[in-house]
Amino acid sequence: MAIRHFLSTQDWSRTELDALLARAAQFKRNKLGDDLKGKSIALLFFNPSMRTRTSFELGAFQLGGHAVVLQPGKDAWPIEFELGTVMDGETEEHIAEVARVLSRYVDLIAVRAFPKFKDWAVDRQDHVIHSFAKYAAVPVINMETITHPMQELAHILALQQHFGTTVPGSSPAQALRGKKYVLTWTYHPKPLNTAVANSALQIATRYGMDVTLLCPTPEYALDRRYLDFAKQNVAENGGSFAISHDVDAAYRGADIVYAKSWGALPYFGNWEAERPIREAHKHFMVDERKMALTNNGVFSHCLPLRRNVKATDAVMDSPACIAIDEAENRLHVQKAVMAALARDPGLGTRDS
Ligand code: CP
Repeated sequence: MAIRHFLSTQDWSRTELDALLARAAQFKRNKLGDDLKGKSIALLFFNPSMRTRTSFELGAFQLGGHAVVLQPGKDAWPIEFELGTVMDGETEEHIAEVARVLSRYVDLIAVRAFPKFKDWAVDRQDHVIHSFAKYAAVPVINMETITHPMQELAHILALQQHFGTTVPGSSPAQALRGKKYVLTWTYHPKPLNTAVANSALQIATRYGMDVTLLCPTPEYALDRRYLDFAKQNVAENGGSFAISHDVDAAYRGADIVYAKSWGALPYFGNWEAERPIREAHKHFMVDERKMALTNNGVFSHCLPLRRNVKATDAVMDSPACIAIDEAENRLHVQKAVMAALARDPGLGTRDS
């Protein structure tokens, strides 16, 4: 049987994503179930986490399953991912054994593996999670690599639930069509992963919104793969996609402002050269003046968020901020994904 992994929402049809979101909404109303009774998931963290680890562990527990957390290189052996390597360095075992052994123990494997931030041409191959998918005999779930699909689902559910209840008569699937969505870069003292920005771009265009990617300069545009996904999604689902460097024009009339910081790809591995550009754009912080330009818009962020660097206290504490709802939804959407993959590891093939 072919195994169906959850590495990117782009591999899943709108029908399938809508079904997962509907199931997540049910879990939000009734949190307990037996969908994972007698089943287990290995959660492999190559990078830190608060929300992802907590929500996956609790989600498995609430569905009657068990989660095992492993941090390779810390509490588990460091893993080799290259083929044909003479393993006389720091790594103790090869992904070929790790993924195969875990597949004999657990029903699902989830992986968090951020880029190494030295060479984007290498990082964009997403080698770690694809290696798990290659050798595992059970479904592999992306807990954030160069995209963050679980955050995407949580984000869309939060938006659907906000706009579905504020626009009379609209169904969740229709609630976001035609909304003006701004994905804004924000300052951060360090160059961060593009994963959430890539994800926001692909899921917002998937749900028929008019999407603007607001960033300081053309160098902060995202990888061509995700720009192409955005264009493909617009062609298939309606809406629009544009890149802007004009802060006020982008915010004006927006229904949704989603913020994220990321490092400029042309400077990957040469971050000292990027620093002056980043430092010159601290004014991209989401504040009350910018939010006042919106159409009574909502604000969200994947968290963690540095207050008064990425967004002001006033924005974070305002009724417009739905970041906590989005974070809560991580629990519900991940339960929907785990339940679906554990029930049917093949899950058919993509239908659109
Ligand atoms: N948003 C998110 O993935 O949070 P953590 O990094 O805390 O898991």
